[in-house]
Amino acid sequence: MTRITITKSSDKEYLYHNVTMAPHQLVIASRLEDTGSDDDIVDPYLFDPSYTLAAATGKFDCQLLPNSEDWATRNNLGFSVWEGAVTLLSFLHSSDTPEAIEFRRRVLEAREKVLELGSGTGVGGIGVAALGGDVLMTDVESVCDITRNNVRRNQQSGANHGGSCSSRGSSTVDSHNWSNTVSIGLGTASVQTLDWSIPVSEQQKPHDPTSSSIIIAAEVAWLEELVPCFVQTLSDLLRPSPSQRAGTEKVCYWAYKERGTEASKIFTTMSHVMRIFHDLGCEVKEIWREPSREDPGKHVIVNIVRFLENSP
Ligand SMILES: C[S@@+](CC[C@H](N)C(=O)[O-])C[C@H]1O[C@@H](n2cnc3c(N)ncnc32)[C@H](O)[C@@H]1O
Repeated sequence: MTRITITKSSDKEYLYHNVTMAPHQLVIASRLEDTGSDDDIVDPYLFDPSYTLAAATGKFDCQLLPNSEDWATRNNLGFSVWEGAVTLLSFLHSSDTPEAIEFRRRVLEAREKVLELGSGTGVGGIGVAALGGDVLMTDVESVCDITRNNVRRNQQSGANHGGSCSSRGSSTVDSHNWSNTVSIGLGTASVQTLDWSIPVSEQQKPHDPTSSSIIIAAEVAWLEELVPCFVQTLSDLLRPSPSQRAGTEKVCYWAYKERGTEASKIFTTMSHVMRIFHDLGCEVKEIWREPSREDPGKHVIVNIVRFLENSP
């Protein structure tokens, strides 16, 4: 597997992650926080109902150590392009495992549309779009603006399809594709709110997320408090749905990075997440594991998740 590479640059406001995924070059920006300053930076979404610490991690950058638990308790801080997303995108792009080959067959050849959960700054969804996927990227409302801005940053010039259906830059309308998309590389991306604390059945407009059979998610189950609602949402999305393309199997490619220990109060553990998946009728199979480049002794794991047919 060839790992995508990232170099960083910045201006006063943003940190830019310059992503090389040959032959594609992407830019993922996140707002810079001056953590050394005494001046409080007020996030315009601070009083938004969907604002949580968990959501703030989707869009800000700082220089604190990810292993230290107290960093997560500080308001507005987090890492904007997470290691699990880089591993997941590298895996989907170039791994020769059967599961990665099947992902590319379904997404790039059969052109099944992709749903991303907890997109954050969006390297996963934007990267899959560049490869040729039709991706609906989702997050809480307070994060979707930065996701949208990054989608626009990577838009092919002259290829904005806002307001009309698009299919890889052609005028063909395929009912299996998301609408109102922006062309990125060989594919398209669109952004919509999908909050795990709200039932999926109440969040089906304009796009119906249950119509996708391929879901991707990176670093979405790391805070203990987030796990139950994330797992519930994913298991609901993985259940067979009348709107999914006929003959397709619903699966989620989910990247998890080890962060917590059994003693952690903030970070969850893989065994805890697995228990909740199991209780909700899902099977989780590990398909890739590699040592973390950021945290010695920890691993980044890619799993495939399915809803078991005989589950209630
Ligand atoms: C650790 S970040 C990972 C972001 C991105 N997937 C990546 O790996 O770079 C977790 C993401 O989950 C999102 N999130 C947190 N709570 C959520 C909720 N209730 N519903 C939907 N997304 C949520 C956050 O906004 C954030 O973007």
